[in-house]
Amino acid sequence: MTLARRDTELRELMDADDCDPVRLDRTLRRFTVINQLVGGWATVVRREVLTRLDDARRTGATVRVLDVGCGGGDVLRGVVARLRRHGLHVEGVGIDPDPRAIAVATRIESPGITYRAVHAEELATAMPASGETFDLVISNHVLHHLTGPQRRSFLAATASLASRVVIHSDIRRGRLAYMLYALLAIPFARGTFLRVDGLRSIRRSYRAGELAEVVPRGWRVRPSRPFRLLAVYEAGSAPGRSSQRGRDGSGRD
Ligand SMILES: C[S@@+](CC[C@H](N)C(=O)[O-])C[C@H]1O[C@@H](n2cnc3c(N)ncnc32)[C@H](O)[C@@H]1O
Repeated sequence: MTLARRDTELRELMDADDCDPVRLDRTLRRFTVINQLVGGWATVVRREVLTRLDDARRTGATVRVLDVGCGGGDVLRGVVARLRRHGLHVEGVGIDPDPRAIAVATRIESPGITYRAVHAEELATAMPASGETFDLVISNHVLHHLTGPQRRSFLAATASLASRVVIHSDIRRGRLAYMLYALLAIPFARGTFLRVDGLRSIRRSYRAGELAEVVPRGWRVRPSRPFRLLAVYEAGSAPGRSSQRGRDGSGRD
């Protein structure tokens, strides 16, 4: 096993349509613990989000947050709660094409948060007619799941849905991340796909330079606290603003 290259051939157990539904349900619910331990969203909200919403805090305007590929919805609930603690009036929407994920997400009652079983691309296609945009579009642990064509359409769709900023957060591949996760997951993994899929996710995930090579113009990629990376897009940003990107700027694989 090597971590020198992304292992894009690996499939995660939870991605199989016929995977054990009980294990899947438990896995989606237990993401709450793992995401709190490794997701780093408190830091992302503090460093990347709050300053961009200063005007909404002053005017009391409603901030709309979209979590794309929301799974069980815990990251969205956490981000919305954090923004509300900072005095913002927030409405959250979580989308995921997997109805099993939406079933888990909707089980927890969350005022001001709704969930829909759609792809980002479907929401973006409907947007010119619906006029529905979001101040903040986020995702957690989605990018590494996607093939090249899926990643391109996902990034285009999420960029078109944001009126302010998109922040995709994912694992950064590395040996230490792999070894620590192998240990960290043990107490939480019983009866779930968490350990196997988490380790596969790390093997599928990007290093910052690799992701920077394949994002389109307008996106910036940077490493974030240990073992994370962020892909950030500012709505209305001029092409070529990315700080780490492919030399030819093509965003090709
Ligand atoms: C590993 S799960 C991450 C779930 C959740 N964000 C978390 O961190 O716990 C990746 C999710 O992305 C969803 N997904 C994949 N492609 C998508 C797309 N094009 N639009 C929206 N969601 C997508 C999958 O259905 C899956 O639930």
